[in-house]
Amino acid sequence: MKDLFDKIKANRGPIGMHAKASHGYFTFPKLEGDASPRMIFRGKERLNWSLNNYLGLANHPEVRKADADAAAQFGLAVPMGARMMSGNSDYHEQLERELSDFVKKEDTILCNFGYQAMVSAIDCLVDRHDVIVYDAESHACILDGVRLHMGKRYVFKHNNIADCEKQLERASKLAETSGGSVLLITEGVFGMRGDQGRLKEIVDLKKKFKFRLFVDDAHGIGTMGKTGAGTGEEQGCQDGIDIYFGTFAKSFALIGGFISSEEQIVEYLRYNMRSQIFAKSLPMPCVVGALKRLELIRRLPELKDNLWKITRAMQDGLKKAGFEIGVTNSPVTPVFMNGSIPEATNLIYDLRENFNIFCSMVVYPVVPKGMIILRIIPTAVHTMEDVTYTIDAFSKIVGKLKSGQYMAEKIASF
Ligand SMILES: Cc1ncc(COP(=O)(O)O)c(C=O)c1O
Repeated sequence: MKDLFDKIKANRGPIGMHAKASHGYFTFPKLEGDASPRMIFRGKERLNWSLNNYLGLANHPEVRKADADAAAQFGLAVPMGARMMSGNSDYHEQLERELSDFVKKEDTILCNFGYQAMVSAIDCLVDRHDVIVYDAESHACILDGVRLHMGKRYVFKHNNIADCEKQLERASKLAETSGGSVLLITEGVFGMRGDQGRLKEIVDLKKKFKFRLFVDDAHGIGTMGKTGAGTGEEQGCQDGIDIYFGTFAKSFALIGGFISSEEQIVEYLRYNMRSQIFAKSLPMPCVVGALKRLELIRRLPELKDNLWKITRAMQDGLKKAGFEIGVTNSPVTPVFMNGSIPEATNLIYDLRENFNIFCSMVVYPVVPKGMIILRIIPTAVHTMEDVTYTIDAFSKIVGKLKSGQYMAEKIASF
């Protein structure tokens, strides 16, 4: 029999195996200073495109003041305990009412973390007789929720409606014999490629199949739709989304999340969702801070307008300069390049050290071997000059990549 620690020491996982060479630079980098387009990385100011601070709220003066005032008034300890036992407050309930109104659902439950909320809600909503149908490129929190499911699940090819229909047909047949129901789970905006889930077409499938639709709109809340109420609003099908999830970790620049649905469904979640019944509720400054952010999202539509102005300039400019940005139709902007992992490492090092641009890089095993994605997240507080500078820098680095220069260089040491 193996010792557990020996086994772990021998296999650190697909990313962990590079930890020694990458820690502190490519992985676990430290970005210092206010969360904004200009942050300090290893002692130098860099132009930063790596934060999901879509609306620029992280450093908005009203947000900073509301957070500071709430921390001074309440501290971080209260309320103590889970909502059901001793952790409820008027502020928590007010935020739930205001979020319900914003996303046009009857009721809302606040959750401590987005990830945990999705896992736990999936676990709570279905039993072993039910069947889950879900998109193949779903976020880890959906996949982990599905892993907890004791019944059957069918996965459909990413955003492929014909395959979705096929899987719904299989799921419906099975649910009829098991006496269960069907839950379809997908995303509003897929965070890696930036493409929207085909929600309207999925909602239309309700004419043919009986199922409930659960949408993770982590990247869509605040960024999509006329009022920022998300991808359902954007596609004109919010009513067809039965259960809507949003996180506070992106546009809201906070922590926590929420799930909105019909009143009785939310009440069921309140009394049955294990991650909320058995865990401490959101601290008061987070709740008061979220109320302020929601107020600003509603009062200042120019934040979203500016996000989209920067997004369009970046995406159009990249395309014009000959870059491949895939199928994005959201602010998430992946720039696809071809190269090995050592080339990617040298390229990112060059970008950071010589052009002072900080963005995230995605390589194998997250994407196929030979593919490099530089992931750009435009925000409302970037400028058009930032966009032009970055496209120009990207043109220079891709020239070096194509001429094999990064292959010849010794692997970046830092
Ligand atoms: C699609 C999606 N769902 C859920 C989450 C988890 O949200 P949180 O960071 O609030 O736990 C994320 C965050 O990365 C996400 O991108």
